[in-house]
Amino acid sequence: MLRRTMSRRDLLRLAGSGALALGGAGALGACALPATLEPAQPAASPAFTPDLDLTMRAASTEVQILPGPKTTVWSYQATVHAGDPAAAQAIPGSYLGPIIRARSGQKVRITFENALPEPDQESIIHWHGLHLPAAVDGHPSDAVKPGERYVYEFTVANRAGTYWFHPHPHGKTGRQVMMGMAGLFLVSDAEEQAAGLPSGAQDIPLVIQDRAFDAQNQIVYGLDMMSQMMGFLGERVLVNGTPDVTLDLATRAYRLRLLNGSNSRIYKLAWDDATPLTVIASDGGLLEAPVSRPFVMLAPGERVELWADFRDRPLGAELRLVSQPFAGAEGVGAPGEAGGMGGMGGMQHGNMGGMGGTAGTASAPALGAALDILRVRIARQEAEPLTLPARLATIPRHRREDAVNKDNPRPVALTMNGMQWQLNGRSYEMNAVAPEEIVRLDTLEVWEIINEQNPGAMMDAMGMAHPIHIHGGQFQVIGRAVLPELQAGWAGVKDGYLDEGWKDTVLVMPGERVRLLMAFRDHAGAFVYHCHNLEHEDAGMMRNYRVEA
Ligand code: C2O
Ligand code: CU
Ligand code: CU
Repeated sequence: MLRRTMSRRDLLRLAGSGALALGGAGALGACALPATLEPAQPAASPAFTPDLDLTMRAASTEVQILPGPKTTVWSYQATVHAGDPAAAQAIPGSYLGPIIRARSGQKVRITFENALPEPDQESIIHWHGLHLPAAVDGHPSDAVKPGERYVYEFTVANRAGTYWFHPHPHGKTGRQVMMGMAGLFLVSDAEEQAAGLPSGAQDIPLVIQDRAFDAQNQIVYGLDMMSQMMGFLGERVLVNGTPDVTLDLATRAYRLRLLNGSNSRIYKLAWDDATPLTVIASDGGLLEAPVSRPFVMLAPGERVELWADFRDRPLGAELRLVSQPFAGAEGVGAPGEAGGMGGMGGMQHGNMGGMGGTAGTASAPALGAALDILRVRIARQEAEPLTLPARLATIPRHRREDAVNKDNPRPVALTMNGMQWQLNGRSYEMNAVAPEEIVRLDTLEVWEIINEQNPGAMMDAMGMAHPIHIHGGQFQVIGRAVLPELQAGWAGVKDGYLDEGWKDTVLVMPGERVRLLMAFRDHAGAFVYHCHNLEHEDAGMMRNYRVEA
């Protein structure tokens, strides 16, 4: 039944757990991993001397988000035991956070305490984008129950960048994130510090999320069949956990770090006065050089960093960061306008005719509707010594000819079975890995994400954009193609892709194929890959892949 090579790490974990419990064989000839690899509460190891040691406690609390009653949220509260006390910075009055700051190469110990108020809310923290051993990546099988803890000890191996963290229990991630559990993990390094970028008060992290609130100001997250299938959409945009954000800024240059922390909403970000966006970084840190874009697509899980220069703006000037309308993210609907998207094939969120359901709440703007994200007001005149650097960083390029499967990409087909999204026709199984999901340690591979659900058929109505995320590290996108019949929607978004930098999450529109190169280095073990539409993920659009030595 079980035919697998055990890595050293697996053996160590088994030895440490004291018991070897084997899971049953999965479907489709998948082989099973031992179901219990870790004791539920691994302890800190005395041999590990952290540069930063903190506790992150997930608990229910109340915050003032809207006028009137406070809102019950679930959030992480950090306590720093050793290291720079400013390394974990709370966002006052917000459910989000903390913002964790670390340097590349630092050793970090984080003790996660699950103090969630509902006994069935097991949880585990995943460090999105970080290159880590499987045991500290936050695999769903490592989730701990309320009252339990999980100790992470790792070295920050990534280059500088805007990474983040959020819960990853199977089937419950969407609700826990919606209730407030997420924060940024900002890594710095020497290359970044030499780049000459705005820092301190000119370095502004901005987490974009949509939420719906009921009449008592409580967060709404009810999943009917439609929102499970399409994703839950909120009614209003929050930035760093706050609605209607206005930033009072100076006539200076700013580094704006944007994360789409929404469960399912995709944004087409632009300045409302048509100033192009100057992009300096993507998911995995700085680009080689700044690029200019009319707009940037930001799907759930993705990050982008902007150089926003306001030095020529008059005092009192205002501009808005908006999400422009776009079409096609939900199949082959007619070109989208705010509130009026869709057409024959485009099933819509929000007010849905015909299918007798809603995704999100009835008054949620459709996916692709125009939205305001935040407002910038030029409030002060200050001199700005910095100029936009011509070069930012060096990015070593993977070469396709070095890939072990250079002419034979590993397919990841985004498929649907009945009302359920799947990967290669399979739903998530906690400890299963199919033969096609095994990769070799120390190899480079081409993966091809294929979003071609029944093109041209009636099922086109079900075609959807999926942000696909691979745990374990960063990859490079090397090509995209789209089916001719789905080119219309794609044409409206493709100029907002940021494929020149390191990525860990990639938006794949209906009819699109994306090829990427990913190296599997340092760490053997099971990692997940999944759709970062959290309702899709929770409903099983996730799988393990296993790196074998
Ligand atoms: Cu940000 Cu597996 O997730
Ligand atoms: Cu991740
Ligand atoms: Cu999806």
